[in-house]
Amino acid sequence: VVYCGRDMQRTYAMIKPDGVRRQLTARILQRFIDKGYRVIGLKQLVIPRELAEQHYAEHRERPFFGELVDFITSGPVVAIALEGENVITGLRAMMGATNPKDAAPGTIRADHATTIGENVIHGSANEEDAARELGLFFGDAELLR
Ligand code: PPS
Repeated sequence: VVYCGRDMQRTYAMIKPDGVRRQLTARILQRFIDKGYRVIGLKQLVIPRELAEQHYAEHRERPFFGELVDFITSGPVVAIALEGENVITGLRAMMGATNPKDAAPGTIRADHATTIGENVIHGSANEEDAARELGLFFGDAELLR
């Protein structure tokens, strides 16, 4: 496949422990594929506490940081590397607002979540976070070319 779009990007998506527990993995992956994104990396793992703290480092000072790390390490997550045109903002749009009560109808969080703490999915916020988070969870050899 030859991609020539200027806005071809990679991003990091993660199905959180609530989503994995509730068996949402296949449906969420299918949404990405239906949209036209390519799943170039995929693994289910329990995130070590240290890695979770690195992943969420920018939120270290926030009051819910401990809760966030406890939650994300509470069970297996599915780590996903996605590739596609404008996939960074595209993924965020598919996810819906952080607080599921504000998420637009048809988004993953609107369809599958009710509380801000357990909101089913994470997606990198911008290019810098995408590169950083992909690097935390995947080695180059683990990604499709
Ligand atoms: S965002 O996406 O960065 O703009 O959202 P933000 O509001 O900054 O939240 C960052 C992550 O923290 C989670 N979060 C919370 N967890 C537990 N309790 C409370 N109150 C809470 N508020 C926000 C939120 O789901 C974001 O997680 P990620 O994995 O980045 O989506």
